[in-house]
Amino acid sequence: MKVWQVQSPGGLDALTLVDKPQPQPGVKQVLLKMGAVSINYRDLLAVKGAYGSKQRFPFVPFSDGVGEVVAVGEGVTKVQIGDRVAGIFMQSWLSGRFQANHPQSALGGAIDGMLAEYVTLDEDGVVKVPAHLSHESAATLPCAAVTAWNALTTVGKLQPGDTILILGTGGVSLFALQFARMMGVRVIATSSSDKKLDKLIQLGASDGINYKKIPNWDEKVWEITERKGVDRVIEVGGANTLNKSLRSLSYGGHISLIGVLSGLSADISTVTILQKGIHIQGIYVGSREMFEDMNRAISLHQMQPIIDRVFPFEQAPEALAYMESGAHFGKICLQF
Ligand SMILES: NC(=O)c1ccc[n+]([C@@H]2O[C@H](COP(=O)([O-])OP(=O)(O)OC[C@H]3O[C@@H](n4cnc5c(N)ncnc54)[C@H](OP(=O)(O)O)[C@@H]3O)[C@@H](O)[C@H]2O)c1
Repeated sequence: MKVWQVQSPGGLDALTLVDKPQPQPGVKQVLLKMGAVSINYRDLLAVKGAYGSKQRFPFVPFSDGVGEVVAVGEGVTKVQIGDRVAGIFMQSWLSGRFQANHPQSALGGAIDGMLAEYVTLDEDGVVKVPAHLSHESAATLPCAAVTAWNALTTVGKLQPGDTILILGTGGVSLFALQFARMMGVRVIATSSSDKKLDKLIQLGASDGINYKKIPNWDEKVWEITERKGVDRVIEVGGANTLNKSLRSLSYGGHISLIGVLSGLSADISTVTILQKGIHIQGIYVGSREMFEDMNRAISLHQMQPIIDRVFPFEQAPEALAYMESGAHFGKICLQF
């Protein structure tokens, strides 16, 4: 079978297509014939060797993929041959609170990921995907969608009529928009592109702000919300957006701190946090239980993830370069 491997730290050139024997499922394991995978910003960092100092090489990248169960090992009871399943991002985070050891089971980083024609996973490490979704659509769910679901539903629950702010039009932000609209929550959105802002409005955002044209977008958020601020920010920017996100929030509002697109560290206005009684919650994807809860909502609403482009499996480097260009609106997938 064919597998993409990252051989050593380097650029996208370090990604190499190799031949390997097809794996067999062990006890309580399933063998998946892969149908599609999707890319997250984190995969781009990992392939480039920029995903933390503990990265190991060689490894098989990508956390997100969907396949059909084609063989089961001894003792498997939760899935059957023919089921369509996705891997969960951290194979050991099944339910309950996040624990220090969970990241050691993250697909496409700490352990080998999904960019292979066949993959074996523990039966606990997979979930059945909504029946109405294609392989590509279902492959977008494990990281970006579960992260957005966790951010919106688990801590300080939002109420219909509340307002959230999403930053940019990446995978996490678009899923947050779709889930928020499902929940009757208003969405204010930012983007670097007016064309993308038009698409956000078509998807149900009430207001769009071009953060390149309006660098003080927090002031615009304040104006749009009649000086009340938003109830939650889905913070994917990190260092260089956090202070503006704090200023965009209402008193008692929440920040779901998710991403680092604009940098890793900055001087943060601690006074704003205390004066406004702001809650800041770090989000690291989510558990298998959250994934299953989210899938029920996606099935009920027949929700369709936003896909920008689908590449063939053989064009993994081209797909990553496309993500790096920032031209995409929605998820980038590969099909087998
Ligand atoms: N903590 C977690 O569990 C978790 C899970 C998933 C992702 N993440 C992180 O969340 C971030 C987003 O991931 P993703 O997969 O959604 O990324 P993505 O799909 O690659 O999204 C990139 C988009 O973000 C926007 N953007 C870039 N720089 C920005 C900035 N300075 N301010 C506002 N928007 C900006 C751009 O949108 P426009 O083109 O519209 O401007 C860009 O197209 C990454 O840092 C990723 O590592 C964390």
